[in-house]
Amino acid sequence: MCILVEWGQDTDQNWWEMKKIEHVGIAVRDLEVSNGLYEKLLGVAPYKREAVVSEGVMTSFFQVGPNKVELLQSTDGESPIAKFLERRGEGMHHIAFEVDDIGKEMERLRSEGFQLLSERPKRGADNKWVAFVHPKGTNGVLVELCQEIKE
Ligand code: CO
Repeated sequence: MCILVEWGQDTDQNWWEMKKIEHVGIAVRDLEVSNGLYEKLLGVAPYKREAVVSEGVMTSFFQVGPNKVELLQSTDGESPIAKFLERRGEGMHHIAFEVDDIGKEMERLRSEGFQLLSERPKRGADNKWVAFVHPKGTNGVLVELCQEIKE
C-alpha cells in the first residue's frame, strides 16, 4: 500500500519524529577567521557569539533559512572540541536535530539501543537544552538533540 503525503500539508507529526535539522556544528581553530569566511560563504553575518563555559567552547551562529550553522572553537585544551581538532582537524563536528521533548526523546533513543553521552539534558548554546548521541552508534556522526528553553 502506498500512502501519499503532500509536502507542505499540515500533518500531525508524531512526538518521536525529530522536527528538523536545527543546525550543523563545525569545529574551527580560529573563530575570528572562520566567522569572516562563513560570512563570505553564506552572505550573512553571525547573529550571535556565545561561550559555553561548561564545554570549553566559544561558538558563533549563522542563520541560513530555517536552519543554522554553529562554529565552535575550543577555549580549553582539554575540551571535546580541542580533542576533535587534534584527532580529525577542522570540519563537520555534529548535526543537531530539534525535538519537542528532549527527555522523552533521550529515553526513546536509549530504548532503541543508542548510547547517550549524558544522563540528562544540559544547557547548551543559543538557549537550548541539548544532549548528544555517541557517534559510534550513528555511523560516525555525533548527533545532538536540542530543544528550545522556555522559561
Ligand atoms: Co550544536
